[in-house]
Amino acid sequence: MAPRSYRVSATPFVIFAQLITVAVITLVLVWLLHFQKGFSFKSDERSKLFNLHPFLMVIGLIVIGGQAIMAYKSIPAKRKTRKGVHLVLHLTAFLSGILGIYVIFKYKKEEGAQNFLTLHSWLGITTVSLYGLQFVSGFFAYFFPGAEWTARATLLPWHIFVGMVIFFFAMVNAEIGLSGFSQTVSSFSERYIVNFTGLLILLYAISVTFVVILPGPYQ
Ligand code: HEM
Repeated sequence: MAPRSYRVSATPFVIFAQLITVAVITLVLVWLLHFQKGFSFKSDERSKLFNLHPFLMVIGLIVIGGQAIMAYKSIPAKRKTRKGVHLVLHLTAFLSGILGIYVIFKYKKEEGAQNFLTLHSWLGITTVSLYGLQFVSGFFAYFFPGAEWTARATLLPWHIFVGMVIFFFAMVNAEIGLSGFSQTVSSFSERYIVNFTGLLILLYAISVTFVVILPGPYQ
């Protein structure tokens, strides 16, 4: 390891992030299936339609997006395989984000509510748009047709930095969404679950950041 490195490998943070992943999925399912009424795409059960929004955003965009970011350091496989996993997981996260926005638009239309009145909605649409741009630019630079090696190498620190900024946009916006929702809930147990989900998402984003900056175990 270089003398000025952090002298810690990414592995403990990968393990920590995986533990948080299990905890976040559990809390979100308990919240939306036990305390709320579950999920439905049909507009006649509006609260079930709404529930799909936090589900797709937290589990899809953030948890799966974070797994995509960590793929190069968390998966013991050939580089080509890790690259494929990185791509597929990011595509899944992005599609979840699009679907999550579609769902909330549908819900608000049913409610007769106006769109884009909140900071959450502005940051939300910005996040998913930037995610899409980052995905497309990464796809053309590194997957198909792929830029020249020197251009790839020059682009890489920017791809990583911009990717982390977008990931933080998503995390911050989920915190705003969860905080707003928590204030509307009367059950203390449900509030604690929603608040804990927010805390764990923050810890997840920090762990993912450590995984990115620390050296991984695979070449
Ligand atoms: C990165 C994650 C998220 C993104 C990108 C996102 C995006 C959005 C967008 C674009 C809207 C605006 C719809 C409109 O104005 O028509 C919206 C609304 C809403 N979201 Fe999220 N959301 C995220 C996470 C969450 C979470 C975790 C919750 C928690 C319950 C939540 C709760 C809400 C609520 C209550 C609304 C309706 C009120 C409003 O427009 O602010 N969101 N979201």
